[in-house]
Amino acid sequence: MTTILAIESSCDETSAAICIDGKILSNIIAEQKVHEQYGGVVPELASRAHMQNIVPVVDAALKSANIQLSTINAVAFTQSPGLIGSLLVGSQFAKSLALSLNKPLIAVHHMQAHVVANLIPSSTEGRNDPKPNFPFLCLTVSGGHTQIVFCESPTKMKVIGETIDDAAGEAFDKSAKLLGLPYPGGPLIDKYAQQGDASRFKFPEPKIEGLDFSFSGLKTSILYFLQNAGKSNLYKTGFMANEDEKNEFIKNNLADICASIQQRIVTILLNKLKKASIQTGITDICLAGGVSANSGLRKSFEEMGKKYHWNTFIPAFEYCTDNAAMIAITGYYKFLAGQFSDLSVTASARAAW
Ligand code: KG4
Ligand code: ZN
Repeated sequence: MTTILAIESSCDETSAAICIDGKILSNIIAEQKVHEQYGGVVPELASRAHMQNIVPVVDAALKSANIQLSTINAVAFTQSPGLIGSLLVGSQFAKSLALSLNKPLIAVHHMQAHVVANLIPSSTEGRNDPKPNFPFLCLTVSGGHTQIVFCESPTKMKVIGETIDDAAGEAFDKSAKLLGLPYPGGPLIDKYAQQGDASRFKFPEPKIEGLDFSFSGLKTSILYFLQNAGKSNLYKTGFMANEDEKNEFIKNNLADICASIQQRIVTILLNKLKKASIQTGITDICLAGGVSANSGLRKSFEEMGKKYHWNTFIPAFEYCTDNAAMIAITGYYKFLAGQFSDLSVTASARAAW
């Protein structure tokens, strides 16, 4: 029996999980509400909140799984990428724990873990859900990353396409900010889009080579579109709406604007995913990361899967946004592969896989 205790602290969620033989027994997540009033994550406040949360969160994960600390076989933690102060809290805690228990330490790459979340066992109506066969492709879409990943095994994967500027989650959040919505705006755009007409406003699709993505042009076109109260989305028209006209336009058209923005982000993502499937010949395809919670993306992904005869997979909601269960399952596979780290391992804001 292999028991892994995992810790995730890369951004603004403090999380701990217990995994036994590849099954998740607990996954405790403490969210940090303190950032809402600032319209984005404040790194220093995030580190402080992790310091306050880490002991109670690990304790809750052990209790909820009914596990004694002495019975764990290894400690896994998020090494990279993320906010360095946040990563340091989790990594120093994990290293101290491994040292004091004399157990091996497993450093996990956060983006690899988002992908491996697709292997967490799940069931529907008492039956085990199918899981992707290797090799598979994964579209990982979060607040900091947008990647198409080619996965040969849980521990061997390669990024074959990624954003050259903003991530998909940033595109949602920055669009929401332009609309005057609070942070994080992605889920709010999703909510309003459900009542809107996505064909009402057209935003441009960037022309980027290969399997890479770009979202910064979309943000600029939304900015112009709102500045001239919907008269054009491509260029500055010379007409500049005043604050009241702009706000009135947003208020009267919010659902249609959100639906149109969401549709464009989703088509940018899925057109590249389709291209990756054609290029590689792979038809087992997964979604991962916080943006895979988006209802428009999920629906269009399933529709595209039916049309092109893909086997499609999306992790359960709690394993899409940042969580320690994904670190635990990745830690489990690294344990089986003998991929341990010594105590000299350090947190890193950006590290290659
Ligand atoms: O993976 P994640 O929890 O954290 C990072 O590692 O970044 O992703 C967070 C991102 C945020 O940008 C948030 O706005 C976005 O995921 N997000 C959504 C939805 N739920 C979360 N974006 C669009 N629609 C949603 N329903
Ligand atoms: Zn993440």
